[in-house]
Amino acid sequence: MTIEAAAPATTPGEPQAAMSAPVSGTPVDLDGLMTTAAKSVSDELDRLIPEVAGPRGPVVDAMRYSALSGGKRLRPFLVMESAGLFGVPAAQALRVGCAVEMVHCYSLIHDDLPAMDDSDTRRGRPAVHKAFDEAIAILAGDALLTQAFEVLGGFATSRDAAVRAALVVELAKSSGSAGMVGGQMIDISPARETMQYDAIAELEALKTGELIRFSCVSGAILAGTGEGERMALAGYAADLGLAFQVADDLLDVTGTEEQVGKPVGQDDGLTTFVTLLGLEGARKKAEDLVESACAHLAPFGASADTLRAVARFVVDRNQ
Ligand code: IPE
Ligand code: IPE
Ligand code: MG
Ligand code: MG
Ligand code: MG
Repeated sequence: MTIEAAAPATTPGEPQAAMSAPVSGTPVDLDGLMTTAAKSVSDELDRLIPEVAGPRGPVVDAMRYSALSGGKRLRPFLVMESAGLFGVPAAQALRVGCAVEMVHCYSLIHDDLPAMDDSDTRRGRPAVHKAFDEAIAILAGDALLTQAFEVLGGFATSRDAAVRAALVVELAKSSGSAGMVGGQMIDISPARETMQYDAIAELEALKTGELIRFSCVSGAILAGTGEGERMALAGYAADLGLAFQVADDLLDVTGTEEQVGKPVGQDDGLTTFVTLLGLEGARKKAEDLVESACAHLAPFGASADTLRAVARFVVDRNQ
């Protein structure tokens, strides 16, 4: 599939629900698709991170504890679906999905540490530093981050060395100081206290948005598509990433720990999309973002129906 330009205008007055409705008219069984994909991701991660005996064992156990602990597997799903738009073999997309999930798991392990958010639970069970200890949690995060690049660089990810290099560069950019880590830095900086909407949106675009952007554009990179397809997916990802974080902020206020699997009320005293916009305003913002995310997918027609359903899921989720 080749398209010229991204980002078509939304139709004025179009009801929001219509924007995330399937273009094909056939409802998407998103739950079933995500469950199947999540199983493939867990099976592949299980193969990629085998247990080891001896004194290296505990760090690998902690990596496995984190990587095989459930989670929505949203990022790998985005990789697999975006790659599917271009007919990329599923095994290649799965490897890229596992790489981004490794980086995501590392970011969660370190985010939960006492020096960061000091969260005792994650994905409904003790955080890695509670199940093991802080030193092992730091090392497990380091090792997951490092292994992600080993996976991307492997021949099985793509026979084309330029594609492998492009994936490595993109994931490095979206994970590092100009990406997720940069967002985490701003999140804990004193400057955050006085930030208003635009600055908070920029912080979240780095902290949460960048890994989501990588997940969406990596399918186009694997396929070696033109700039138009990549830009369309990047536009979708930017709105989806923000919608995702608005929902995360909402769940911190309206969810229960049992439901979301991690402590709630962690954002008390912080400026978030909820404090800036109010509960209703944040919900409306999330809806608007679903609409604009889906508008970016118009060039892909009905083949992007699952990605449209993902946008809906991201704001409707309760975990
Ligand atoms: C949580 O991400 C961290 C944020 C970026 C807000 P997810 O909500 O995707 O976490 P899991 O992977 O499903 O546990
Ligand atoms: C951190 O954001 C996102 C990461 C980069 C790990 P949060 O601190 O809001 O994530 P949760 O709410 O603990 O999952
Ligand atoms: Mg945090
Ligand atoms: Mg946190
Ligand atoms: Mg949060």
